[in-house]
Amino acid sequence: MNADPRLYVALDLPSIEDAQQMVDRLGDAVVSYKIGLQLLPLGGAEFGQRLKSQGKNVFYDFKLHDIDATVEKATRSIATLGADLLTVHARPDVMAAAAGGRGKSGLKVLGVTVLTSLDQQALDDIGYYLSAEELVMRRVTQALDAGIDGVVSSPLEAAKIRTQVPDGFLVVTPGVRMPGGDKGDQKRVATPGNALRFGASHIVVGRPITAASDPRLAAMAVLENMRA
Ligand code: C5P
Repeated sequence: MNADPRLYVALDLPSIEDAQQMVDRLGDAVVSYKIGLQLLPLGGAEFGQRLKSQGKNVFYDFKLHDIDATVEKATRSIATLGADLLTVHARPDVMAAAAGGRGKSGLKVLGVTVLTSLDQQALDDIGYYLSAEELVMRRVTQALDAGIDGVVSSPLEAAKIRTQVPDGFLVVTPGVRMPGGDKGDQKRVATPGNALRFGASHIVVGRPITAASDPRLAAMAVLENMRA
């Protein structure tokens, strides 16, 4: 079965060696990888460059959130690394600063709307007065206004988002689980095939693949579900 570039495997692993071993085990089944906060302090940015030189797609999930000047300069630095995707939190000022920082580079900026591990109770506890869906939709509008390239959302919001955004706008969904799979800390989830049907342009799958006894077999099952 051919790899599908729309499947990003989240390399949330304890070391660069573990991440490289995972990439080796997945072999030609996976061409797109997400590097997040666990690997960033251990050389994750350089590891992303190595993956790019091997022809992989690289998504830096660094979730930037700071004052405008810092976000803009950080995004400009990250754009020099040659990755494909970068996340920032979906606040209007943060997204606009990131759009300025990526300039005309090939880096695409995604706004993280509402983390897929948060349910309504968690949002109430934080003090947000909107429902998860209302908050996501408000942030989608703000992402469009800021001129960034897409958003990260739960698959459950992808269909509604698709009705509000232009065709090329990216909707990247973590919170993807196989039918009957363990949800872990994720709350707002869907299967790979349903996430795409709902309008996701890309899906992110971590532990269902990386914690499987046979990650390559697990990735194949995800690919099959994407195609079903
Ligand atoms: O292991 P699992 O499939 O739950 O991994 C999901 C990945 O997507 C994690 O790396 C997590 O940080 C990331 N993510 C998320 N929800 C968001 C944005 C990113 O779960 N809204």
